[in-house]
Parts: sequence; C-alpha cells; structure tokens
Amino acid sequence: MSIITKLAVAASLATALSSAALAQDISGKVVGFSQIGSESGWRAAETSVTRQEAEARGVDLKFADAQQKQENQIKAIRGFIAQGVDAILVAPVVATGWDEVLTEAKEAEIPVVLLDRGVDAPEDLYLTSVASDQVEEGRVAGQWLVDTVGAEDCKVVELQGTVGSTPAINRKQGFEEAIAGHDNITIARSQTGDFTRSKGKEVMEGFIKAENGGADICAVYAHNDDMAVGAIQAIKDAGLKPGTDILVVSIDAVPDIFTAIAAGEANATVELTPNMAGPAFDVLAAYWADGTEPEKFIITESKLYTSADDPAGEYERRKDLGY
Ligand code: AHR
Repeated sequence: MSIITKLAVAASLATALSSAALAQDISGKVVGFSQIGSESGWRAAETSVTRQEAEARGVDLKFADAQQKQENQIKAIRGFIAQGVDAILVAPVVATGWDEVLTEAKEAEIPVVLLDRGVDAPEDLYLTSVASDQVEEGRVAGQWLVDTVGAEDCKVVELQGTVGSTPAINRKQGFEEAIAGHDNITIARSQTGDFTRSKGKEVMEGFIKAENGGADICAVYAHNDDMAVGAIQAIKDAGLKPGTDILVVSIDAVPDIFTAIAAGEANATVELTPNMAGPAFDVLAAYWADGTEPEKFIITESKLYTSADDPAGEYERRKDLGY
C-alpha cells in the first residue's frame, strides 16, 4: 500500500470512528446547564434550543437561571458537581473569576463546555468552548459601516454589552479594528446598555441629549439587537428616523431586528446562532464514547444581514424558534 493510500485509509477510518462516536446514544446522561439569565431575545432562544437539543437526544437537562449574577452561576455549578452530573454547560456572564469552580469540576472529572462566551482561565479547565468569533462580529459590523459611509464624516455612538463579558470586550475591539485608519469615522460616546432593550433605550436617550438632540449622531453600533431595538425607540421618540437619520448596526439576528430592517428602521445585523448546545452535545457524545478530545474552540459563523437579504423572510424563518 502506498503512503498516500495508507493516509487515505487512515483518514477514512478516523472519519468513520468519529461519526460512530457522534452517533453514540447519550440518552439518560444528566447535564447541568448554568444559563446567564434572560437579558435578550437571543438568550431566550439559546435556552429553548438547548432544551430542544437535550430532549432530542434523551438528555436529562438540569437548568439553572443565574439572573445575570456570577455568584449564582458558581453556586449552580457547585450544585451540579454535588449531584454528580455527567457534564456541565455554562454560559459565563463575565470573563474572570472562574478558576476555582472550574478546578472543582475538573477534580470531580466532570467535563465542562463553555457556551457563547469565553473565560480568562487555563484552557485545561474546560473540555471545549462553543462560541462565535466575537472580535470578527465587531469587525463585520465595523466594515459594514466603513463601506456604507465611504468618505462621509460619521460620529458613532456605541452601546456596549455587559461590562466584563467577552462579547462586550471583543465586539468593541473588532469594531475599532475595522474603523481604524478611517479618520472620518469616530466613536463619540460609548456606554454599557447591559444587553437589554430597556437600558439600550435609556442610554441612547442620554446620547441623543448630549449630541445636539441626535443631529450630530451618524450611527449607533449596539453589541446586540435588543439594545438596538431600544435605541430605535429612543431615536423615534426624539423625532428622528432610525435607519436614515441615524444608521443602526448590531449583532444577533433576532426576529425583531429583521422587522426593523424590513421597515427601514435598522440597517444591518450580524448573525449569532442560538444553537450552541447541538455542537456541545455532539462533542460530549464523542468524548463519552471513546475519549475523543474536541478542538478547544468550536467557532460558529458570523454572517452579515442587511435589507438586501430578505428581512421579512428572515423574520418568518426565526419567529417560532423561541426568541
Ligand atoms: O453572549 C452572547 C450575547 O449575550 C448575545 O449577543 C446577547 O444578546 C446576549 O445577551
């Protein structure tokens, strides 16, 4: 057998083995899920999709809502360890402060999978992380603005996500990278809206007041769609036209932003899939089957949508998914 044939056989064997692992029956496994809360439509969808993906595989999902508090997440994870669950899924509200509890899970030999946000902790403390490339999401949003305004001067106001969370840190960085070198585009104001619609609206009202009734604002960049929807309301309340007087670009691709895009009140969004649990259960199945170690980072796609991408159809496709 030539070396090339041997390699081809090895590759097809590896594929067969990993598909066998993927097809593994994981029904009856008990998995704890420490969810952040319900701050956004996207978060609600992630919760329902995770429940559906667990049910489809016969996994017994133990769900804990942390109501945005890291201490509640740590308590929930300790509870899962005490119950002896087979694995733990965690969407970490902030990046820091996880070493101790993740070490406890490791010592109990319970694999941990991070969903949608990252942590500043040694990589050997979790099995894998299923998330988007959040810096790239910010870059895609920033590049859309660069392409849209061309050489026009553009003062941007930024609605940041939860302070200390990886999407807030990374989406800011990516956007700044995209506009770097375009001196006509500047971030005039930047404040957290905590990923919620109500805070997005409140903070945008302050930006409008501070920027000549909104007349000096060219665009709002929101780290998620819910804050953008809140900002759209604030813009309308100020007697301005969102999407025209003030451009609106954000991240998530929830149904409500497609309604706004279809109405000309928002301009662009970057998709974040709510199905982080599907890939997480698949890697766990392979891990339980034969100890297969997954890639450390499983990256989901970050696709841009604008009015050219059938926003009414995109709304229809998403409206019943639990957002
Ligand atoms: O971690 C993902 C972010 O968290 C979503 O973009 C936002 O809507 C959510 O609150």
